[in-house]
Amino acid sequence: MQILTENIDLASILKKRRQKLAELFEYPVLLWSGIAPSRNFPANRYPFRASSHFLYFAGFNLENRVVQLENGDLTLFIPEASPDSALWHGESPSPQAFGRQIGAKAVYPLTELAHHTANAATIAMQDVSTYQQQLEVLERQILPEAIDLELMKAIVRLRLTQDDFALQEMRKAAKVATKAHLQGIKKTKNAKTEAEIRGIMESVIIGHNMTCSYNSIVTVQGEVLHNENYHHSLKMGDLLLADVGAETEMGYASDITRTWPVSGKFTTTQRDIYHIVLAAHDACIANVAPSVEYEEIHRMGCLILAEGLVDLGILRGNPETLVKIDAHALFFPHGIGHLLGLDVHDMEDLGDLAGYEAGRERSDRFGLKYLRLNRPLRSGMVVTIEPGFYQVPALLNHVNFREKYKKVVNWEKLEQFADVRGIRIEDDILVTDKGAEILSPNLPSQATEIENLMG
Ligand code: GLY
Ligand code: MN
Ligand code: MN
Repeated sequence: MQILTENIDLASILKKRRQKLAELFEYPVLLWSGIAPSRNFPANRYPFRASSHFLYFAGFNLENRVVQLENGDLTLFIPEASPDSALWHGESPSPQAFGRQIGAKAVYPLTELAHHTANAATIAMQDVSTYQQQLEVLERQILPEAIDLELMKAIVRLRLTQDDFALQEMRKAAKVATKAHLQGIKKTKNAKTEAEIRGIMESVIIGHNMTCSYNSIVTVQGEVLHNENYHHSLKMGDLLLADVGAETEMGYASDITRTWPVSGKFTTTQRDIYHIVLAAHDACIANVAPSVEYEEIHRMGCLILAEGLVDLGILRGNPETLVKIDAHALFFPHGIGHLLGLDVHDMEDLGDLAGYEAGRERSDRFGLKYLRLNRPLRSGMVVTIEPGFYQVPALLNHVNFREKYKKVVNWEKLEQFADVRGIRIEDDILVTDKGAEILSPNLPSQATEIENLMG
């Protein structure tokens, strides 16, 4: 992604964003794009991806750039091109032409930046070399306090809801992720390894000139929540869990999960659990609407899972009570989802400032500690809904949990479900004035639809 000009007036989109920032924040702002780390020698680089805060206001993905935002204006600072740059990387657009495309008021060499730092707020970068540059240029610490904290809050207010351009991008990202999943589902019967399916899915994304919005999870060990190994062979009777998302050239993410049987047919036990997870998924999405507390959506998902597990005889007792004592979290230890935008877990570089309403703090309860979003929903937010069921040995065999939940889990019954290691069903949901819109409506989630796709 350099600069995308296809049918969009990028300069005016960015101007609106800057003007909104100026209404919320009175100090100058400096935002760095960042620097990609090198592998074993300097010229062999990891792929570059600009900081999302930078992308939001600058709209392009180039390394080692800085923007200053003040009173709705943008000043761009760019490094001098090395004499050999054109040889290895091709001609760069002229700084002035480039500046015009993003509506810059002025373009200066990066060496001038030190003269434009007075009273400026910033956000700490994740990559160490840029962070060092920030400290040197600003000659101060960057901590979540004072003007830097106020800037974080202003940016959260802006990025919490997605503007029309962002939504257009997120729809594109979801559409390509949908195609990737459809290919993965259709090709599994003839594939031998997880890696083959990962390759098929990611090739769809790369073929649309997009990137993966996070490291793909394509695994028969779905109970390992962020499994990034792909070496296992696919065996009849396995479930394959694929959590794969596309990111557009402008940096917007999708985050989608489906789980399907390698053989093309769910076993009875897999289907039983799949239906429970799908019931939670569907009910949670149906209840997404402005003003609804996301924590309530999470609780609803937990309750439906608990009810289903009681019906199957895996859990014993009253589902409401089971959720109160976090028994469901033995099988569903994470939150029902998170914010989605430029980052797959949007703005988590700011800790819980974006995810949690002011005055709320993350609970340390087993069933709530991984809930990444705890706010009333608002029209324009995009969130994921991603209930799951997992048999994680580290939880199920943990001596404290065994003791605490010995009476409410029917451990013998659970053994009958040994072929269900991990199921997750995840979609990206836009909160609208009326309720919710699924950004990936053409990706089936019913067990029978998935079986039919597999042929
Ligand atoms: N793909 C990571 C997640 O679902 O949160
Ligand atoms: Mn997710
Ligand atoms: Mn995901």
